[in-house]
Amino acid sequence: MPNVVVVGAQWGDEGKGRIVDWLAEKADVVARYNGGHNAGHTLVVDGKTYKLALLPSGVVRGKMGLIGNGVALDPEALLAEIERMAALGVAVTPDNLMIAETATLVLPVHRAIDAAQETLRRQPIGTTLRGIGPAYEDKVGRRGLRVCDLAEPDVLSDKLDALLQHHNAWFRGLGLDTLSKDGMLQRLLDIAPAILRFAGSVWQQLDMAHAAGKRTLFEGSQAVMLDIDWGSYPYVTSSSTVPAGAASGTGIAPSRVGHVVGVTKAYATRVGEGPFPTEIHGGPGNLLRERGHEFGVNTGRPRRCGWLDAAQLRQSVKVAGIDTLALTKLDILDGFECVQVCVGYEIDGRFFDFAPPGLAAQQSAVPVYEQLAGWSRPTRGTRSLAALPPEALAFIRFVEAQAGVPVSIVTTSPERDDTIVASDPFDA
Ligand code: IMP
Repeated sequence: MPNVVVVGAQWGDEGKGRIVDWLAEKADVVARYNGGHNAGHTLVVDGKTYKLALLPSGVVRGKMGLIGNGVALDPEALLAEIERMAALGVAVTPDNLMIAETATLVLPVHRAIDAAQETLRRQPIGTTLRGIGPAYEDKVGRRGLRVCDLAEPDVLSDKLDALLQHHNAWFRGLGLDTLSKDGMLQRLLDIAPAILRFAGSVWQQLDMAHAAGKRTLFEGSQAVMLDIDWGSYPYVTSSSTVPAGAASGTGIAPSRVGHVVGVTKAYATRVGEGPFPTEIHGGPGNLLRERGHEFGVNTGRPRRCGWLDAAQLRQSVKVAGIDTLALTKLDILDGFECVQVCVGYEIDGRFFDFAPPGLAAQQSAVPVYEQLAGWSRPTRGTRSLAALPPEALAFIRFVEAQAGVPVSIVTTSPERDDTIVASDPFDA
């Protein structure tokens, strides 16, 4: 049975939740492999809106949800989210959620470090301030706490000592308040049973699912351009967002990750700081923000908006091994007289068909645009390629040619059924 992985092909907020939700119906298992509650997915099911951050979207549709070892898990955030879901009538129990015992914990100390680091940075990254980056730093620094530590109070206590010793030296050096262990340890011990009831071997669960011929959908958070290796470093998140991260972040073999769907909007947005060559200040940028409701799900921050960057998309396709694209929010371009698509950059008089890694180069990159005709009639609500205006179809074909892969799915309104399926990723 083929598996499918869904990754953001731009800077996040491409509408992955909607695509994952659509694909989840055909999956047996939905697994998260990276990020934490910095992510935000909005699902609208039967008129009810669900805002998810840590939980795999599949739980809303009654699928088995897995949170892999690659996720940075804030136990308080998870319990609060489970409560919010219960209030909406979705029971999250060990029957529909398993958390990897080896997932890294996000603790209050990480939120404090995130805030202090952002204040101290000469150029803030614009993080979500959820403590995600500092938790991953502790993971690779080999001093992180993991879900399994909650079951071993002595180990937990020792590790927390070492962690706070490390970080308090930094806080003290900067004249900032230090953090005390006692309250933090007690709170972790108090909530441990509520978390541990979900803990298990996610890698084994995936192996059993494979052996039983079940289909797994891997749900990527953030996006290729926010990947720790492939994004516009340092304006990135701290995890591996690409499909390779699905393997290391859950324990599935890389050869079993399956068909890769890259989700891209018909235009581009970015939250936080960092290079964004096709950003439009004012005019059409504001129009895209208003029409596309481009404000953060969890943070409410207005998103920066611009034209589709096909050069960036082409690179995402290559490094993430994207097989097909899901093109979202096509209808937001309805009514534009013409549509611009960036096909490369001019930097110091030279043409590049990809973004070179240097920050100064990226920041001075002047996009080279191809101008396409706007559509003669709206696409909103269209449910087949044949029913699209010819200009919109030409836009899709142009994106495919630029990206080098076909478009499998197109969305034309926030309604779940306003989805055009050119080819089903699960049948690929
Ligand atoms: P962090 O992940 O909170 O450390 O933030 C690092 C960068 O990733 C910032 O620019 C954030 O705005 C961005 N980011 C993190 N999560 C998301 C997301 O779910 N969507 C879009 N951007 C995100």
